[in-house]
Amino acid sequence: MESYKQQVLDIIEQNIKLITPKEAARWATEYLKKNITVSNIAYLIQYGRLKNYGSNGNPLIDKDELKDYYDSFRNELYQKSSIFKDINWHLSFSEYKESERTKHVHRLHPYKGKFIPQLVEYFLDSHTDEFKKEVYFKKDDIVLDPFCGSGTTLVQANELGIHAVGIDVSYFNSLISNIKIKKHEISKIYNEIKRLTDEIEDFNKNSKVSSFENELNEELSKFNNKYFPFSDFKIAIRNKEIDENKYANERLKDFLPLYYKLVNKYSIKLKQDREDAFIDKWFLSTVRDEIEFMKEKVLEINDKDVKNVIMIILSRTVRSCRATTHSDLATLKEPVFEPYYCKKHGKICKPIFSIINWWKTYTVDTIKRLREFEKIRTDTFQICLTGDSKAIDIFEQIKNINPDFANILINKKFRGIFSSPPYVGLIDYHEQHAYAYEMFGFERRDELEIGPLYKGQGEEAKMSYIKGIADVLKNCKRFLQKNYDIFLVANDKFNLYPKIAELAGMRIVEEFKRPVLNRVEKNRETLYSESIFHLKEK
Ligand SMILES: C[S@@+](CC[C@H](N)C(=O)[O-])C[C@H]1O[C@@H](n2cnc3c(N)ncnc32)[C@H](O)[C@@H]1O
Repeated sequence: MESYKQQVLDIIEQNIKLITPKEAARWATEYLKKNITVSNIAYLIQYGRLKNYGSNGNPLIDKDELKDYYDSFRNELYQKSSIFKDINWHLSFSEYKESERTKHVHRLHPYKGKFIPQLVEYFLDSHTDEFKKEVYFKKDDIVLDPFCGSGTTLVQANELGIHAVGIDVSYFNSLISNIKIKKHEISKIYNEIKRLTDEIEDFNKNSKVSSFENELNEELSKFNNKYFPFSDFKIAIRNKEIDENKYANERLKDFLPLYYKLVNKYSIKLKQDREDAFIDKWFLSTVRDEIEFMKEKVLEINDKDVKNVIMIILSRTVRSCRATTHSDLATLKEPVFEPYYCKKHGKICKPIFSIINWWKTYTVDTIKRLREFEKIRTDTFQICLTGDSKAIDIFEQIKNINPDFANILINKKFRGIFSSPPYVGLIDYHEQHAYAYEMFGFERRDELEIGPLYKGQGEEAKMSYIKGIADVLKNCKRFLQKNYDIFLVANDKFNLYPKIAELAGMRIVEEFKRPVLNRVEKNRETLYSESIFHLKEK
């Protein structure tokens, strides 16, 4: 059999023009020095980025067109990269696949603002290189993350045999972190999931929603096949042969009467009666009924750990069932209660009427991820405390939870900090999980968040941010070894960290700059730089 390398060389040297997706993936992997899969190539064909010269069963693409496609993105990135001359390209971690960046428990629940595990690993592990010239943390040390978020530091510390304590002001974030890091009895979770899945399936069948959705899906699929044939339609838009908006609006007008006929036939209630709370406004009535049903069942679970894991699964499910369009998932605009033309998929899509599909997907995914982590975890101690890092007494809290570990901690103290603080006016960390707070009635402490989005980026907000982060560092100092090392990841565009360090009685000894390739859509990336400030006692 021809070797992989040989096939790539053949493609390059013999100037073969039309290649299969498999050959294209190999060629592109070699050309870009990064892993490109057959499904990446299939995506480009499907969405009309590349013309298909073969038949649908046997697609073929033009290698020169593929090269032009990738070159256009590379040029854009290189132009931007010349702005960042002092950047450490090594820290982009762009060679890691999406699945490695979200490995095992790192993707148990969405969380806006988390850092990638490889970055944490780089600073916590025992390697050195031309940029990282010292080893800062070693096995059995204890690391602190006062802005723990979804627990990336805790999980990576565990992988490396390092103990860790995290703190987060948001109860739900602490819950995500602790579920990731805890040792679970997975078989118990599995049994409970099976029971709940049967219950929700019965509930759904009795409510006519599944019959309604089946018929709607059939009609939609016939309609889309006829009026929005997959790659042909996308190519026609790219070549400006049809006016996408006008055409889509006209077709949608044709489909909506059919939709409302089915809604009447099955007596489906679309909107809820109120829209005061997030959970009243952002879900179809049918979805809300299922949420209420499942929430009650989950709250009845006796085993606390099983209950917590299932709360996370239900939250993740609920989040994926918000009544919105596929393109507005990240930034909600207005709730959507009827089918709409979806630019992302180039066809008519519909909002979600039942939680069942996502529930099943996420239950399977969670069990798989917990099992993966179970295989590699070390026997070290990690926990996330819920509290305000400006004032929390870490030793006292740990004493109540694990007196043995508290003894070790009080004697040894934290070796240092690895953390990514919130930035000024960027994200509301409670609000991003409003549905979970409302569903389970967790207490919110929004007023203690440092730098929330709702306070903006004005002068007052910046001053309060500087004071807030400096107060956290001063409070944490009480629990650190004398010769501590602190690493803070921040995209400090307002240059606030020199002032923060000064107020905290610290100095910035080094600033590592890493490029961040931000995915704005599936195949477009923008570039900015983020700093990792290394601080020590003044
Ligand atoms: C950038 S995120 C951290 C993300 C984390 N590195 C991860 O990978 O998931 C910052 C976190 O700081 C938390 N936070 C904000 N103010 C806080 C405070 N006063 N005390 C403790 N945590 C706070 C927010 O709730 C948020 O989860």
